[in-house]
Amino acid sequence: MSMQPMPVKDVAKKIMKKERIFILDVRGEEDYKNWKIEGETVETLNISLKEIKESPQEAKAKLPEDEPIYVVCAKGISSQDGVEILREAGVEDITYVVNGMNGWSEHLEPVKIGKLPGEGGAIYQFVRLGKGCLSYLIESDGEAAIVDANRMTGFYTDFIDEQGIGLKAVMDTHLHADHISGGRDLAKQYDAAYYFPEKDDEGVEFQYTPLRDGDEITVGAVTIKPFYSPGHTIGSTSLIVNDEFLLSGDILFVESIGRPDLAGKAEDWVGDLRDTLYERYKSLSPVLTVLPSHFGEMTELNADGSVYERLDRLYEKNQKLKVDDREKFRHLVTDHLPEEPNSHEEIRETNMGKKQPDESTQQKMETGPNNCSV
Ligand SMILES: [Fe+2]
Repeated sequence: MSMQPMPVKDVAKKIMKKERIFILDVRGEEDYKNWKIEGETVETLNISLKEIKESPQEAKAKLPEDEPIYVVCAKGISSQDGVEILREAGVEDITYVVNGMNGWSEHLEPVKIGKLPGEGGAIYQFVRLGKGCLSYLIESDGEAAIVDANRMTGFYTDFIDEQGIGLKAVMDTHLHADHISGGRDLAKQYDAAYYFPEKDDEGVEFQYTPLRDGDEITVGAVTIKPFYSPGHTIGSTSLIVNDEFLLSGDILFVESIGRPDLAGKAEDWVGDLRDTLYERYKSLSPVLTVLPSHFGEMTELNADGSVYERLDRLYEKNQKLKVDDREKFRHLVTDHLPEEPNSHEEIRETNMGKKQPDESTQQKMETGPNNCSV
């Protein structure tokens, strides 16, 4: 019997559990080089559909014989042709990944990070493996808050509805340039408050509650304290949850730091970035668990697929936190800026409420890797 098509959620589960998986990517070489399914236990090979069609036996010879082969393409259509041709060529253990890279980009996998006070009290991280985005759901006493939501709101609403809880607050730590926020959508659906940092309001076209340093937002028995931490954007605001967790937005990641340039203001904001990382964050409890809104490398994933590290350990091992000299830090950041995320201008405008692209345009805007860090 032939193998069933593989849903992206099962690919995600395998990678998060660090189980080996062999992926045959049948897109063109450029697309493959730019962005692919990655993971510590992933082995991937690129043979385009064209090459497979031209010489199925040659393609077959490059494939392992002792393990299943999962074929991926952009949308999950041409991969089916690839599977068929290779099956005819005698490859037995082979199937395709449903919805391909589009599906991969859009899948979120929730992981429980830790307990919080109150009934059902916990913080969950939603890992978007395909794009390196991390978002959060805080639950306590039947209430929830969501931080840096992705546009695929169904993952959060399914979770909320299954738990039978209410959504009280939705926050964005900054104006995102790498992914389209689902925050306002969620707030509207559940009649929850939508928090947004005032200083990132460069003429946004929606109502919001300012996310202000010094305020306290309660979710059941949990207190969330906004902490002003500019540098990635001028409004970037971290969230301290129950004096245990530091949701660092795009300021501090496990192996890297945020980039200050996605609004074209690298030179202006690099000083803020340095002050946040080398001064403001140093004033916080060193045992806070840092929960970033992105990861860059698959090596940042813990054994259970989650991404976090204690603040003091980051000061020990994150190389970008060891360049104390202002000038050197400025160079470190501005001389090594990676390529900007795809469509970052359009994404900013969408997040400002100035554009309402349709679903498939949104999908295209978010295609590709994340590139949010330095
Ligand atoms: Fe960002």
